[in-house]
Amino acid sequence: MTAVLEVRDLQVRFSTPDGEVSAVNGVSFDVNESECVGIVGESGSGKSQLFMAVMGLLAKNGRALGSAKYRGTELVGMPVRDLNKIRGNKLAMIFQDSMTSLTPHLRIGRQMTEVLIEHQGMSEADARIRALDMLNLVRIPEAARRLTQYPHELSGGMRQRIMIAMALLCEPDMLIADEPTTALDVTVQAQILDLMADLKRATKAAIVLITHDLGTVAGLCDKVQVMYGGRFMETGDVRQIFYNPQHPYTRGLLSSMPRLTEDRQETLYAIPGQPPNLQRLPAGCPFQERCTFVHQRCIDELPLLQQAGPGQFKACHLASLDVPVDDPNRAAIPAGELPPVIPHTATGDARTA
Ligand SMILES: Nc1ncnc2c1ncn2[C@@H]1O[C@H](COP(=O)(O)OP(=O)(O)OP(=O)(O)O)[C@@H](O)[C@H]1O
Ligand SMILES: [Mg+2]
Repeated sequence: MTAVLEVRDLQVRFSTPDGEVSAVNGVSFDVNESECVGIVGESGSGKSQLFMAVMGLLAKNGRALGSAKYRGTELVGMPVRDLNKIRGNKLAMIFQDSMTSLTPHLRIGRQMTEVLIEHQGMSEADARIRALDMLNLVRIPEAARRLTQYPHELSGGMRQRIMIAMALLCEPDMLIADEPTTALDVTVQAQILDLMADLKRATKAAIVLITHDLGTVAGLCDKVQVMYGGRFMETGDVRQIFYNPQHPYTRGLLSSMPRLTEDRQETLYAIPGQPPNLQRLPAGCPFQERCTFVHQRCIDELPLLQQAGPGQFKACHLASLDVPVDDPNRAAIPAGELPPVIPHTATGDARTA
């Protein structure tokens, strides 16, 4: 397998008036050709900033340390001029909020063709043909008319499709989608996810999908990386992560996922407590304060990723989560509170909702 992106010990720090925020704390992974990788974790776990660092898009008070190589070329510290040749061309990113990502006073056609003229030296006529092709690819009706419209004249779902079409214009090697459906209503979410699944089949691009929604990951991704406190808690093949989670945090996330099979009145399990303070991370495991399995070693020593199964890694000192329910050492999770995990796909879920 050929890696499109190789990330090694990547860290992201922000300087703030109250001190330094450690948003990403040393993550290493590869994204291979044609692979779809899901990045999941609660709000603030560092998912977006990790890829903002890869794209060289951190805020002014932020800095990246470590390494992120795109097909062997180091991106960390690369001058903006060189980065711009790769960004939007070979590496494309789509964001949650299409309204702020599109330029409000420019017609869609102009925004789409500009990229091609600038990055690929295309003629205006050829660029227009390619823009139309891409709009058709993302199933936008009346594509020719859309090119003459302004972003505010389109619905949220339509704008998001246009964002995806724009990201695909230059046939990127890698598409990073950061919560691409969060701002949309459920039916449109399902349509966009179907579209992403089609694109995954139709293009050879590697896809990174950043999301809160584990259902989306189950439907689309090959691999999953679970983030917490700016670190990977667990990584692995999507089936392993869903059917056989080895980290208490992953298990908690899966248990807090709504299930179709269950009574809708039932209150969902929620992981107790709050995410860690990124200005004062504990010495040991970042999840220690919320973990029902916590023991002394978790407080003293940071767990590093270690193999937990075929293609599966966990950053946890526990040998196994399968502690018998009657074991007095099992921490205070009442029996039945962590039901067995039943994965389902987001598209199916969303349509029924
Ligand atoms: N410019 C900044 N200055 C200081 N801290 C920042 C800055 N940008 C982001 N952060 C902090 O970095 C941490 C990680 O943010 P990030 O956006 O990666 O979270 P996330 O996992 O994408 O969350 P969400 O799911 O809500 O999008 C957060 O605590 C955030 O407050
Ligand atoms: Mg985010």
